[in-house]
Amino acid sequence: MSKPGIPTIKFTKLFINNEFVDATSGKTFEVINPATGTVLAHVSEGDKADVNKAVAAASKAFSRNSPWRSMTAFERSQLMQKFADLVWEHRDYLAALESADNGKTYANAQGDIFASVATFRYYAGWCDKIKGTTINDDPKYVTYTQKEPIGVVGQIIPWNYPFLMLAWKWGPALATGCTIILKPAEQTPLSALFAASLIKEAGFPPGVINVIPGYGPTAGAAISEHPDIRKVAFTGSTEIGHIIMEAAAKTNLKRVSLELGGKSPLVIFDDCDVKKAAQIAHNAIFDNHGQSCCAGSRTFVQSGIYDEFVQHAKKLASQIKVGDPFDPTTQQGPQIDQDMLDKVIGLINSGKQEGAVVETGGERLGTKGYFVKPTVFSQVQDNMRIAKEEIFGPVQSILKFKTMDEVIDRANSTNYGLAAGIITQDIDKALLFAKSVEAGSVWINCYDAITPARPFGGFKNSGVGRELGEEGLKEYLEVKTIAIKVGI
Ligand code: NAI
Ligand code: MG
Repeated sequence: MSKPGIPTIKFTKLFINNEFVDATSGKTFEVINPATGTVLAHVSEGDKADVNKAVAAASKAFSRNSPWRSMTAFERSQLMQKFADLVWEHRDYLAALESADNGKTYANAQGDIFASVATFRYYAGWCDKIKGTTINDDPKYVTYTQKEPIGVVGQIIPWNYPFLMLAWKWGPALATGCTIILKPAEQTPLSALFAASLIKEAGFPPGVINVIPGYGPTAGAAISEHPDIRKVAFTGSTEIGHIIMEAAAKTNLKRVSLELGGKSPLVIFDDCDVKKAAQIAHNAIFDNHGQSCCAGSRTFVQSGIYDEFVQHAKKLASQIKVGDPFDPTTQQGPQIDQDMLDKVIGLINSGKQEGAVVETGGERLGTKGYFVKPTVFSQVQDNMRIAKEEIFGPVQSILKFKTMDEVIDRANSTNYGLAAGIITQDIDKALLFAKSVEAGSVWINCYDAITPARPFGGFKNSGVGRELGEEGLKEYLEVKTIAIKVGI
C-alpha cells in the first residue's frame, strides 16, 4: 500500500433506504480535520424531516413478511459476515478515513477497525443462538418464551471511537433482527457513511440500516423523541444521557441503553513492579488522547512508592510524540475540536489554581490543530476539579493513598461507575477491591481488557444497560411468553 494519508472522501450524503440522498433542507455542515483545523468535507445535515424518512424506511424493512423478517438466522449471520469481509477488505481506507476525521493515529485507527470486525463477527455468530425457555409450572399448560427483536432502533454515537461505537451498536441490533437509524457524531460522520455503502454492497435489504449525520439537538432529539422508534442506544456525555432518557419517558417509553462518562480509578499497591505499573497506568489514561469513557483518570498510588511512581509517569508522558496522525512515529494526535481543547485546557488551569503540581505538560501545543501536551499532575486531592470531573484529555491525575479501606471509599466517592483497575501481587487485595468497587468492569493487573465477548457498561451515572457479550443482545430483545392449554 502507498503511504497512508488523507483519503478521497467518497460518501457525504444521508443514507436512507439503501440510497445516498441530500438532506430534505438541502443543508450541509463542515467536517473538520482536527490536526489542521481545515475542512475535510461538507456532509448533508439531517434533521427531523430526514429522521422521519429513515424511520419510515426502517419500519417498512421491519414489517411482517419483509425480506429482512423472512430471513433465517443463518442467512442474517451470512449477511453480517459478508459485511465484516467488506470492512476487512477496505480496512486501510477506513483507517485512513477515521484518522483524518478523528485525529487518532493511523495505527490506532487500524486497531479500531480490527476490533470492529471482531465485534461484527462475534455478533454474527449469535444470530442462530438466541433462545427462549420452556416453563413447566402447570400440567395443564405447555408454556414457552420467545425472544423477539424490539423493532426499529435509534443509535446515537460519539466521536471518540466513531467506527468501533458503530460496531458495538450494529452488531447486537443486526444479530437480533432489528432495523436501525444511526446518527454519527457531527464531528466524525465519515466512517459511518462509508460503512453504509458496504451495507448496500453486502446485500442488506433497503431500510435495515439508515445513517443520518447531523447535530444532537435536531437529528439526535428527533430520534430520542420519535414515537415509532422503540429503543434508543446512546453513547456520550452523562448530560445528554439525561436528556435522552427524559425524551423517551415523555414520548413512547422507548427502551433506553446509555453508555456515559466516567472517572475511573486505577489503584496501585506498593507490592507491585513500579515500572510496569506506571506503564499500565500511563496507557490507561493516555490511550486515544484521554478521549475514552473508561480512561483510568484517577491514578491512586500507595504512599510507599508514590514518589518513584510519579517519576516514571512523568518520564513516560514527556516521551510521547505528539503530532501528525499519519506520521508513523506519532503516538498522540490532536483533541477532537476547539470545544474539547478549551475544556481540557480549562481543567488543566483549574488543577494548577487548586494547587496540584504539574510534573510535565500543562498547556496547549502549537497554534494549529487542537493539540495538548501530555500532562501529569501529582499531589492531586479528591476535592480538586481534575479529580472529580471527566477531563477527556491527555491529563493524568496522581493521588496518594495509604490503606485499602481508605482507597475503596475514595474510589467509590463519585457518581460515576464505569470501570476500575487494581495493580497488586496480593490476590486477596485484588479480589477484595474487585468485590467492593462500584464499577461495571474491573481490571486486575491490566487495564482496558475489553473484547466483544465481555459485557461493558456502567454502574450509577455511567449508564444504563450493557453492551457487548450476550448481555448486549438483551438490550435489543423483547420476551414473549406463550402459554398453550392442552386437552380442552
Ligand atoms: P455529547 O454527549 O453531546 O455527544 C454525543 C452524541 O450525542 C453526538 O452524536 C451528539 O450529536 C449527540 N447529542 C448531543 N445532544 C443531543 C441531544 N439533545 N439529543 C440527542 N443526541 C444528542 O458529547 P460531546 O458534547 O461531544 O462531549 C462532551 C463530553 O461528553 C466530553 O467532554 C466527554 O466528557 C463526554 N463524552 C463521553 C463519551 C463516552 O464515550 N462516554 C463520548 C463523547 C463525549
Ligand atoms: Mg455536547
